[in-house]
This record gives sequence, structure tokens and C-alpha cells, in this order.
Amino acid sequence: MIDNQKLDVAITATVEKLQSLFGDAPAVAVVLGSGWAGAVSHIQDAKALPYTELPAFPQPKVEGHVNEIVVGQIGAQRVVMLRGRAHTYESGECTGMAGALRTLKRWGVKLLLQTNASGSLRAHMPAGSLMLISDHINAPQRSPLVGEQGNHRFVDMSTAYDAELRKHTLALAKRENLMLGEGTYVWALGPQFETPAEIRMFAAWGADAVGMSTVPETILARHCGLRVMGLALMTNMAAGLSAEVLTHELTMKQAQLSGERAAAFLAALIASLAELTL
Ligand code: HPA
Repeated sequence: MIDNQKLDVAITATVEKLQSLFGDAPAVAVVLGSGWAGAVSHIQDAKALPYTELPAFPQPKVEGHVNEIVVGQIGAQRVVMLRGRAHTYESGECTGMAGALRTLKRWGVKLLLQTNASGSLRAHMPAGSLMLISDHINAPQRSPLVGEQGNHRFVDMSTAYDAELRKHTLALAKRENLMLGEGTYVWALGPQFETPAEIRMFAAWGADAVGMSTVPETILARHCGLRVMGLALMTNMAAGLSAEVLTHELTMKQAQLSGERAAAFLAALIASLAELTL
């Protein structure tokens, strides 16, 4: 459960720091999941700041992981990218990104664009495919909002993934000749991969991709009034759908193979957002 009083102090300090270092907030924030790190190289005039300087952000527990924000410009659109997110499987807590996301909102960010690596449940989306997230299934039925007060804790999730921005993104993919699937993402707690039986159940539920992130952040972001979009990079066919044995190494290798194309599309998408009022 979030200790809102304590978190608020950290958020206030973090917003002040961001404002003094970077000025007003960019309208767009991007969470970079596995495979998407290459997007950083598309930023012009990039300035980085480690999470250790941002008290409301998740503090890295493992040395060697990049945990930083990068602020800059892609075309006419200013952007802040978050390299590194807290996963529920690390601690059992699904509230790890609450401070970071509420900081972004209070700083003035309008849109949270999430990216992740996923397993595909659909043969027409093989490894290397990109999927625009149109909806999600919270399979663990865990909520970062447990313990929140007030009526606005009862967040509407029927339009969590912004319809206008999805339409914009699908049109852009068409213009760029990129095959972009659209579908439902199911959150599995992890860190173990799913069983084939679980994948058959998720497929019957209507899920198209499975992963271990994104859903808690979408809930937190909608609760604090950020618009949300999500892009998933398929790194493998989900358990039981191919002869492959699933390993982290396999997913990272595929993420690397397709990462450049994913990052290039993400950069084009961010630049195109400058045409919209967010
Ligand atoms: N399952 C869960 N998370 C994942 C997978 C998967 O198959 N691939 C990449 N992240």
C-alpha cells in the first residue's frame, strides 16, 4: 500500500528538481521496456539524470542497470524517457512506479507512452512484431490503488488506452508501411514464464500478448489523469506455442534483433505527436 504522505514529500522534491534542471515538462513521457532502449539515440540535445537524483523514482537495487531519465527533443516534440521501471516480481509490490508517474503528472506531462517486451499468443504476430495495446487483462487482479481514498479511486478502465492516439498511431504505421497489430495485453506476475495451460487460458480470454509489466503503471497513470498508450514488442511465441524453451536470454536476443526497428517507429511516433494537442 502506498504511504501517500511520505510519497508526497518525495514527489514535491522531485518535481522541483526536474523543473529547475529542465524547465517546464515535456508533454510526452515514455517508459522504455526491454528492447526499446535504442529510442534514446533518436533524442536530440539529450540530457540524462539518474533515478538516484530523483527521490520519488524507484531506486535501483541491481548495479549495472541503467536507471535514468533522458530529456530532449525528437523532431518538434519534447520528450522525457524513463529507462528502467520497477516490476512487481522484484518486490511483490505493484506500487513501485507510483512516485515516478505522479511526479510526471505534477510536473506537467500529459501522455504516458509505455513500451514493453511480450510473448505473442497469436500466430500472425511472430517474434519481432509490434502490437499496439488496445486493452489489458489484469490477470493477478492486483491493484496499486488498494488503500487509496476518495471516489476517484474508482477509476474507469473502459478507455484506458487512448482511442484518439491509437487511431493516430495506426495511421502512422500505415504511412510508414509497418505491420502494426492491435490487441489485448495480459499481465502475468512472473518472474517465471507462463505454463502452456495458462497461455491457452489467456488466449481463450481474448489476450493477444503476455508480459510482466505495464498494467500497474496504466492503472496508476489513469488514476492521476495521464493519457496512456502502449506498444508491445513480441520477443517470442508464448509458452507451448512453439518448440522453443523460454529463457530470459532468448527474449533479450530477439529484443536486440528487432529493437532498432521498434525504436525507429517509436521515434517517428513521438515526433508525430507534435501535430496533436495532448
Ligand atoms: N511471457 C511473459 N513475459 C514476457 C514474455 C513471455 O512469453 N516474453 C517477453 N516477456
